[in-house]
Amino acid sequence: MKKITIAIDGFSSTGKSTLAKELAKHLGYVYVDTGAMYRAVTLFAMQNGYIDADFFDKETLIHSLPYIKLHFEFNPDLGFGEMYLNTINVEKEIRTIEVSSFVSKIAEVSEVRAKLVEQQKAMGQDKGIVMDGRDIGTVVFPDAELKVFMTASPETRAQRRYDELQGKGENVSYEAVLQNVQERDYIDTHRDDSPLRKADDAVEIDNSHLTREEQFAAVLELAEEVTKSL
Ligand code: DC
Repeated sequence: MKKITIAIDGFSSTGKSTLAKELAKHLGYVYVDTGAMYRAVTLFAMQNGYIDADFFDKETLIHSLPYIKLHFEFNPDLGFGEMYLNTINVEKEIRTIEVSSFVSKIAEVSEVRAKLVEQQKAMGQDKGIVMDGRDIGTVVFPDAELKVFMTASPETRAQRRYDELQGKGENVSYEAVLQNVQERDYIDTHRDDSPLRKADDAVEIDNSHLTREEQFAAVLELAEEVTKSL
């Protein structure tokens, strides 16, 4: 059976990573969470004092890029690759609301995007990959055989993220999460470099009213159809 490249893009908290992980597991493909890479660079910038609530030293971050080494290491218990920043596992630390509140600023920087996109393209060389992000179908893999663009209302997405953060014991209000979702939507769709947009040949899925199982079945069917037609 031939292997394909599956690009999953969309707004934050639309369940891209859940879907991508399930697809990769079912198909025996590699799963890559590109948001984790932008989050890891953000954590690096926070740890080194390059970014704060009212401060961002973009130039120093750009000069430090050669010192940022990112890789994923497969964790068999979790069934996916965890994010490592300079040999340290940062999978948990990159999911906090603080990182979420700075990540869009970091993801706007063209030099950061160029570095991460290059690494992402290399990871997809052999196909058999499911990659999720914002620019996968438009920039990273414009020739992907299957592109999915996921949407859901901001309120639905904020509720999902809120439940997830509560589950991890993070003390945040629903309103703060909704505000973060809306701010990130705005920055992600309005930045100059690789703004979030649906690729012309992507299949759009609004999952506000779809169960996880329904959504998975629909996309798996698409992937199987595409693979058979090769
Ligand atoms: O998918 P996520 O919420 O973990 O992504 C974190 C941020 O990284 C998101 O606000 C936008 C940015 N991002 C990006 O610009 N391009 C990608 N391919 C993936 C994420």
